[in-house]
Amino acid sequence: MILLDGKKTAADIKEEIALEVRELKNRGRKTPHLAAIIVGSNGASITYVNAKVKACERVGFESTLIRLTENTTEEDLLNEIAILNVDKDIDGFIVQLPLPEHIDEQKILMAVAPNKDVDGFHPTNVGKMALNLPTFISATPFGILELLDRYNVQTSGKHVVVLGRSHIVGSPMSILLSQKRKIGNATVTMCHSRSKNLKKLTLQADIIIAAIGIPEFLKSDMVKDNVTVIDVGITRVGDSSKKSGYRLLGDVDFDEVSKKANFITPVPGGVGPMTIAMLLKNTLLACERSNK
Ligand code: GUN
Repeated sequence: MILLDGKKTAADIKEEIALEVRELKNRGRKTPHLAAIIVGSNGASITYVNAKVKACERVGFESTLIRLTENTTEEDLLNEIAILNVDKDIDGFIVQLPLPEHIDEQKILMAVAPNKDVDGFHPTNVGKMALNLPTFISATPFGILELLDRYNVQTSGKHVVVLGRSHIVGSPMSILLSQKRKIGNATVTMCHSRSKNLKKLTLQADIIIAAIGIPEFLKSDMVKDNVTVIDVGITRVGDSSKKSGYRLLGDVDFDEVSKKANFITPVPGGVGPMTIAMLLKNTLLACERSNK
């Protein structure tokens, strides 16, 4: 079994980005600048956004964090987005999800200028991704492609089973892996809550991408020998033995499934760290594209 070490791979990518930033600076070019908007005080969201800002500092990017209160109106948020859309110093920005209930998420994502949408959530960028045109691929699917690539996991002609049809992971992952691209050319089955005979499907999979948010859902009797497993789940479960009061569980029963797997991502330290590295990569790309 080979562990797909997202923590180490993400560190390698961040080092590569830091090197590129130093070169940009040496050539007198603009320093990449990422902004993030967070609305409210969701604990997990604050942790993620702080990690994104910290990662910017580590690679030499500029960063701006805009914290808005829980009762911010949709109009106020749209105003903040309009300002960032035209701010020449900001290369890319994200609006951390989820948003409070009174704000229409789709309306917000559509207000972000596609050339600054480093999350790749704007319909224009999702459409380009689906057509295999140059765009920003969302950080989580992008991170999974990169991890598979760097560990030389073969996908061409393989049967991939994707568990989950979310807009952030399951749906784009299914599209990307079926496309004609280096990490792609797979036969993809996308499963969701209405899928029947799930076990029959997962038992046929050469590669399983688990992104359903149910802790330890995938058991060893659901996978065949030598499977590759990518675990996107990160559910916080209470654990009084931890200083934080919780621990993170993936969608895969790691102890069981890893015994049968060829390649497998751990949780934490698998897909999670990759998403931040790929957000930085998209920001660098946005900076390069806008300052050509
Ligand atoms: N919430 C969970 N994942 C993400 C992400 O990739 N981007 C944003 N903006 N919010 C998220």
